[in-house]
Amino acid sequence: MKTITVNASKSYNVIIGEGILDDAGSAMQKVSGGQTAVIVTDSNVDPLYGNRLTGILEKSNYRVVRYVFAHGEASKNPKTFLSLIDFLADEQINRTDAVIALGGGVTGDIAGFAAACYKRGTGFIQIPTTLLAAVDSSIGGKTGVNLDAGKNLLGSFYQPDLVLCDVLLFSTLTEEVFRDGCAEVIKCGIIADRVLFESLKNPVRGQLENVITRCVEIKRDIVAEDEFENSTRKLLNFGHTIGHAIEKLSNYDIPHGHAVAAGMAAETRMAVYMGICDKSCLQDILDMLRRYDLPESFSFNADEIALVCMSDKKRDGKIITMALPAETGKCILKEIPVNELDNLIRSGLETSF
Ligand SMILES: NC(=O)c1ccc[n+]([C@@H]2O[C@H](COP(=O)([O-])OP(=O)(O)OC[C@H]3O[C@@H](n4cnc5c(N)ncnc54)[C@H](O)[C@@H]3O)[C@@H](O)[C@H]2O)c1
Repeated sequence: MKTITVNASKSYNVIIGEGILDDAGSAMQKVSGGQTAVIVTDSNVDPLYGNRLTGILEKSNYRVVRYVFAHGEASKNPKTFLSLIDFLADEQINRTDAVIALGGGVTGDIAGFAAACYKRGTGFIQIPTTLLAAVDSSIGGKTGVNLDAGKNLLGSFYQPDLVLCDVLLFSTLTEEVFRDGCAEVIKCGIIADRVLFESLKNPVRGQLENVITRCVEIKRDIVAEDEFENSTRKLLNFGHTIGHAIEKLSNYDIPHGHAVAAGMAAETRMAVYMGICDKSCLQDILDMLRRYDLPESFSFNADEIALVCMSDKKRDGKIITMALPAETGKCILKEIPVNELDNLIRSGLETSF
């Protein structure tokens, strides 16, 4: 078992280990003075782990209530968020009670945003059940929902009180959802740690605890330096400018990790075109994506992608800041004038290197 402390506007522990869901009651007592635990989960995860977590928390004398929504990115919208807020009010939840996100990134983002807004902030615990949530979305405090205009446009920064990551929960993931998480793991290696990147030549499944720990450490360091994404935190967005556009263009049929994988390939091609990295870096990244059966591209063209990028929240007036790889293990931030984006994306997508 490993414990990593994140020092942001709030300090909290990320506990990673096998079978630690059984300790959820005692772990929660250390961070929450309330009497009620609100489990927020989706329709896939609830039948797998909902009753089990309820039983564990009841043994620690919590009153447990459960809010279940339809699984999938399509639920990450203001309607689900408001329905959860109504549920919290109906259940007379207090600020000292804890909202527990039991699920993947969609659950964590919705539950965290509700915890941030209801009575201006309740307790909040993340229990990630996807690899993606474990290595990325459960840490760092970004919460929110999508609007018709774009992804994650309504949200807040709200750090959890605790992240409890039981790696045994990932045994029920489909291969596709597991691979989604692998895309974010690969991203961590590319932006910050060549050793991690190289280690991924061995399957992630065989080194889960170590890989998750390293990704959490990388995110911990970045969040400690720039919690509110004014500078270095933008490095975590590698692959996400084009990735988010792909997700939106597919009407969220393409899952986040797969879209980010194709986004990383396209953004690395841009980096080669701009002379930021060389072709061997692109080749290493493409080889790694292939190793995990992740996509390098989708059928959307540069014009469509650039248009969606214009409403991306990473855009700041006439500039969009992108994280681009200089080599595996190191990304740099590059300010791109939005009127050049279309050409650069096209050059990246259409030039053969
Ligand atoms: N807040 C952040 O910092 C941050 C970072 C990265 C991604 N995200 C967001 O995370 C979301 C993607 O997260 P995700 O890939 O975890 O999606 P998800 O939460 O939709 O989970 C993917 C699928 O796996 C199912 N599932 C979850 N756990 C399971 C388990 N243990 N066994 C079987 N099935 C299980 C879910 O029901 C769902 O169908 C996107 O909305 C993305 O924007 C947020």
